[in-house]
Amino acid sequence: MEIPVIDFSELNGEKRGDTMALLHKACEQWGFFMVENHEIDTQLMEKVKQLINTYYEENLKESFYQSEIAKRLEKHENASDIDWESSFFIWHRPTSTIHEIPNISQELWQTMDEYVAEVVKLGEKLSEVMSENLGLEKDYMKKAFCGGDGDGAAVGTKVAKYPECARPELVRGLREHTDAGGIILLLQDERVGGLEFLKDGEWVKIPASKNNAIFVNTGDQVEVLSNGLYKSAVHRVMADKNGSRISIATFYNPIPEAIISPAPKLLYPTNFLYADYLKLYGSTKFGEKGPRFESMKNMNNNGNILA
Ligand SMILES: [Fe+2]
Repeated sequence: MEIPVIDFSELNGEKRGDTMALLHKACEQWGFFMVENHEIDTQLMEKVKQLINTYYEENLKESFYQSEIAKRLEKHENASDIDWESSFFIWHRPTSTIHEIPNISQELWQTMDEYVAEVVKLGEKLSEVMSENLGLEKDYMKKAFCGGDGDGAAVGTKVAKYPECARPELVRGLREHTDAGGIILLLQDERVGGLEFLKDGEWVKIPASKNNAIFVNTGDQVEVLSNGLYKSAVHRVMADKNGSRISIATFYNPIPEAIISPAPKLLYPTNFLYADYLKLYGSTKFGEKGPRFESMKNMNNNGNILA
């Protein structure tokens, strides 16, 4: 199965229509896709990965291999209830928590902030084109994530290493799950794979990212907001015997206070009197049903159009 690849530069080019259609299909049928030509600076991406790898080597690696998880695997115990990962989470918006990361260097702090500013722009653009593809206002998703009038969506990054694992048959890097939030933008290892997504009952292996392509998947809130049209796909990370894998996943999410619901435009009309439907049908039978359904949404049980 070929994972959909969205050439982001084409969204402003001649092939905009085809690219939008491909994106819509990816969101409906896959719940994930690769983005190329996303305009995030390659050197910046390389630098983030390099600095995080160094941070892991200097601060996390030793303690990981001395942890309970590692000991259980040494004893050949089954570890299907835990994850073979070394990770930490940073919030960027609404309030940054990056200062809470122990021993973080000024360079990593600054580089991370620069990278996140870029990747958020991509998340915002994706929210716009996804909204457009759903037939909603361009800023619909963004506003829903902001809780209406807020300044912006919530943004956080899970920084993870999936360390080389001597017994990958006993443990997952990360167990099967869907993501809770909105749009997830992943910068990942260029050498070691391991991420897998479920599609139509089959696990699809996501290859290591060449050329710093960003891998995107949609979370549970996009599925709800789109009334189930777009999917949040189940995924997992396999542990690897031959190398460790870096994963920098930025979440473009609703703020905690946001009230989430399916977009009313995408809902079927409910609670109408069938006689009212028939009356409208009589005058619109040879038109499309979509506008008829829309009209029914605005009608109360007495056949009156609501203001
Ligand atoms: Fe996930």
